[in-house]
Amino acid sequence: MTRKPIRTRPFPFWPIFGKPEEKRLLRVLRSGKWGRLHGAEVAAFEKRFAEMHGCKHGIAVVNGTVSLRIALIATGIRAEDEVIVPPYTFFSTASAVVEANAVPVFADIDLDTFNIDPAAIEAAITPRTRAIIPVHFAGQPADMDAIMAIAARHKLIVIEDAAHAHGASYKNRPAGSIGRLASFSFQSSKNLTAGEGGVITTNDDTLADACRSIQNCGRVPKGVWYEHHVISGNYRLSEFQGAVLNAQLDRLKAQTRTRDRNGKYLAARLAKLPGLYPQKRSADCTRHSYHLFMMHVDSSRDLFVKRLQAEGIPCSAGYGFSLHQQPFFRNRAFGPYLPNARVNYENVSCPNSDLICRQAIWLEQNMFLGPRSDMDDIGLAFEKIFSNS
Ligand SMILES: Cc1ncc(COP(=O)(O)O)c(C=O)c1O
Repeated sequence: MTRKPIRTRPFPFWPIFGKPEEKRLLRVLRSGKWGRLHGAEVAAFEKRFAEMHGCKHGIAVVNGTVSLRIALIATGIRAEDEVIVPPYTFFSTASAVVEANAVPVFADIDLDTFNIDPAAIEAAITPRTRAIIPVHFAGQPADMDAIMAIAARHKLIVIEDAAHAHGASYKNRPAGSIGRLASFSFQSSKNLTAGEGGVITTNDDTLADACRSIQNCGRVPKGVWYEHHVISGNYRLSEFQGAVLNAQLDRLKAQTRTRDRNGKYLAARLAKLPGLYPQKRSADCTRHSYHLFMMHVDSSRDLFVKRLQAEGIPCSAGYGFSLHQQPFFRNRAFGPYLPNARVNYENVSCPNSDLICRQAIWLEQNMFLGPRSDMDDIGLAFEKIFSNS
């Protein structure tokens, strides 16, 4: 193997920011209106983000974990109701369910798309099932027609976990506009970021009021300041975060197009390599946000990751094991939640998720914001490793 790495230059730095962020931040600073109760940035962002999704409401909150929990509680989920979630996702998709005092039930993913498999959802339904949280994993929308049809048949609520899916679309409908509610994250790695933050989108007026109330210490829209109606907390974003989000939102459309174009190109190139399987793109995915570019390899994944890194291609293996195998679930470390639930996660079987945990490779979204020649470098690195092995 030649010693010179394929890539010596860095990929685009994330986050991308400049004068618009500076201008808005300084305006907030100088206004002295730093909290969302007094300024205009968060409110403007909520309106813009909701409109971009064809939704009537956007409720900004402190992160994408809290947004899931608030969405669940707003639906009136009751103690020990069951909520179906995928096992291949970040911790919060399931921990938020426990924090709503409900029981996460894991339904395996599809091996081609890495998204929750509707057949597995159907098999996981019991009389206690109340909701489904599909995750648009890596930025490819889940199989929403099938999921919404199951939900309609069994009278279940769908909450989209769109933490990876800013700007993605399903049959030309924005991800995050299809379920009863959706949750987004603005944590620092996300395609739209303010360092931390989250938002709930919905078209349902009653649910929106409930979310707003939980976000704002249990206050109600027409109530007075010292009037608290429901169990809740202070989950409001600051105006500084709102300022950054407004500036970042102006960049999102063009960035998403670039990621999608580059991701598509790289996927086609890598699919030619034997034993390497880039995430399959469903025909229903009209825009992929490529929060992650994912694939799995037949063998020696860890060595593959090391070799790619040695070629100057930043990458990782992603999750080391399926979510239900976390100590949190194995030890049922639920704190005050689910005191009476007879749940046991030892025997959960999600072989597809387990396999992807052993075989996945992740590349991050910022690598897809440069020119096509960046994709050629990534492709060349893979091809070099293949030809040398
Ligand atoms: C799929 C998914 N859901 C939820 C979250 C939680 O978002 P946050 O980190 O903003 O709490 C994340 C964050 O990484 C995520 O990847």
